[in-house]
Amino acid sequence: MQTDPPNRENRVHAETTDGTPAAKGRFIVFEGIEACGKTTQIELLAERFRARGQDPLILREPGGTEIGEKIRNLLKDSSYLGQMSPEAELLLMNASRAQLVREVIRPALDKGRIVICDRYFYSTIAYQGFGRSLPWDALNAVNRFAVGGLDADFVIFLDIPLEESWERLCRRNEELFRTLGIQISDRFEESGWLFHERVYKGFQSLAEESPVFWRINGAQSREKVAEEIWNILK
Ligand SMILES: Nc1ncnc2c1ncn2[C@@H]1O[C@H](COP(=O)(O)OP(=O)(O)OP(=O)(O)O)[C@@H](O)[C@H]1O
Ligand SMILES: [Mg+2]
Repeated sequence: MQTDPPNRENRVHAETTDGTPAAKGRFIVFEGIEACGKTTQIELLAERFRARGQDPLILREPGGTEIGEKIRNLLKDSSYLGQMSPEAELLLMNASRAQLVREVIRPALDKGRIVICDRYFYSTIAYQGFGRSLPWDALNAVNRFAVGGLDADFVIFLDIPLEESWERLCRRNEELFRTLGIQISDRFEESGWLFHERVYKGFQSLAEESPVFWRINGAQSREKVAEEIWNILK
């Protein structure tokens, strides 16, 4: 895990000296447990890049391609709740990812674009590895095969306590029910508190071990979080 903003020379994809971006783009991934603020912060970051005249490509996992969105619907379909095996879940996630990398991410990076992705294979390590206890050798092999060696340049890890995540989800569900009458089944109840505790610990250990992880205290105000992210990526 990194703690200080990188200096310009140390960037994975350095810029040319006159300030124009080098040919290759930057691959930025947002990670963390549910409701840690990924969507909120990705939008705020994208606005900052746009204000500077850059046009980041925003993607989400699973999904981001026509094939991937169909897989996403399958994965999120509550009628399969409790039916889908962890192995099938792992392979579907990675099928979506393999398509996204080849159809969208790699071509965009090759054109020099900034790509911002909401979750990547680190989530699979946290959810399917730590959360569902799938065997590490199989999980790592499938992940590697899916991404074909494409790691992120920066992983912005929004770290919030599990209790904060649960409170935010409850607030969001109440709001949806009050305004639109939509009742969303609670993801914490679906998989259980212990599962989410394992996922939480998974992200913590990824943050300790991975050199591309940047930990941000996501429990701060939206503005403060956005500022800290910008200091790393600007
Ligand atoms: N810094 C913050 N402080 C307090 N609440 C926040 C903060 N950032 C986001 N929120 C609120 O928390 C909820 C979850 O935020 P958001 O949807 O951005 O998280 P997420 O990580 O994308 O969630 P999901 O895992 O469901 O996709 C939203 O209601 C949002 O308004
Ligand atoms: Mg989100």
